[in-house]
Amino acid sequence: METKKDQQFTIRDVAKLAGVSTATVSRALNGREDVNARTRQKILKIAKDYNFRPNAAGRGLSMRKTFTIGVAIPDLRSSYFAEVILGVDEVAGERGYSTVIYNTGYIEDREREALRMVRDRRMDGMIMLLSNRLTDECRALVDMGYNVVLLGNALENVDCPSVACNNFASAYVIVEYLIKNGHTRIAHIGGNRDTNTGMLRMQGFMKAMENYGIPVNPAWNLPTRYFKDEAYSMMKRIIASGDLPTAVYAAADTMAIGCYKAIYEAGLRIPDDFSIVGHDDIDIASLVYPPLTTMRQQTREMGKTAARKLLDGFSTRPRKDITILPTSLVARQSVKDLSRGAKG
Ligand code: HPA
Repeated sequence: METKKDQQFTIRDVAKLAGVSTATVSRALNGREDVNARTRQKILKIAKDYNFRPNAAGRGLSMRKTFTIGVAIPDLRSSYFAEVILGVDEVAGERGYSTVIYNTGYIEDREREALRMVRDRRMDGMIMLLSNRLTDECRALVDMGYNVVLLGNALENVDCPSVACNNFASAYVIVEYLIKNGHTRIAHIGGNRDTNTGMLRMQGFMKAMENYGIPVNPAWNLPTRYFKDEAYSMMKRIIASGDLPTAVYAAADTMAIGCYKAIYEAGLRIPDDFSIVGHDDIDIASLVYPPLTTMRQQTREMGKTAARKLLDGFSTRPRKDITILPTSLVARQSVKDLSRGAKG
């Protein structure tokens, strides 16, 4: 059997190796619940080891499925979302599903279009980061029995699975870290306030400031769409105002790096003139200079968990099932400790 070429490896071969029937292999690969957990693991491992790919077209015809799932994310240029997609695709591939990527750009019509693709059954289900503006439309789709898994936070009264990090607490922790390093003049260059992640990170920032009795300067609490060029412009605006914070919490690492550019262009330095922190711990956060202090998200795991929830949900009625993956502070060199003396 080892000498078989990948494309000749059939469902019968998997069944033989696992010591089960082809029907059991099929049930395991389709995420049905009526398979013993250990048997399912064994079957998935064999399928993976032998690079077994079920014939999607044939399976699809007989089961009225496309064996395609969608991932609708707002910004394909962000390596944060690239990492989410890698996680989704890894799990989908193991189960014989293809992944279609849909970039929404945080644009309402494009998000609506993504929902429409699920309704038109152009894919069997969709993992999506959706803005709050589409809550009602998403709820209607889920209530009709379509398969959706939300990323980044549950939407109110939408009874479908979701995977997120603890956005509020995570923002609180990193702002508190700045405060403990002696900063009181703290700006927040925020994420998209139409998304829960953007709102909750801003609220976490506000709460930390409030708990330490530090006023929030509205001119330093600036929303963006989570785009790095917008963060760059906001940072330029803050610098040009002449009223300078000592620290900036950017709601995403990509945006923190946009701030780096504005600061260096103004002839200023990090962390001597500004301390900068981000969120997500994207791959290049440790490679920029100075290496960026941030909150690490379990980004790949987020994609994998979302895919498992979606595919497992195909055989059971989806329901609200919220997974929150913890974040952790990664202290690098972009924060100056002001508590040890006057700012240099
Ligand atoms: N990171 C970066 N961009 C985002 C996020 C996130 O967690 N959520 C929505 N846009």
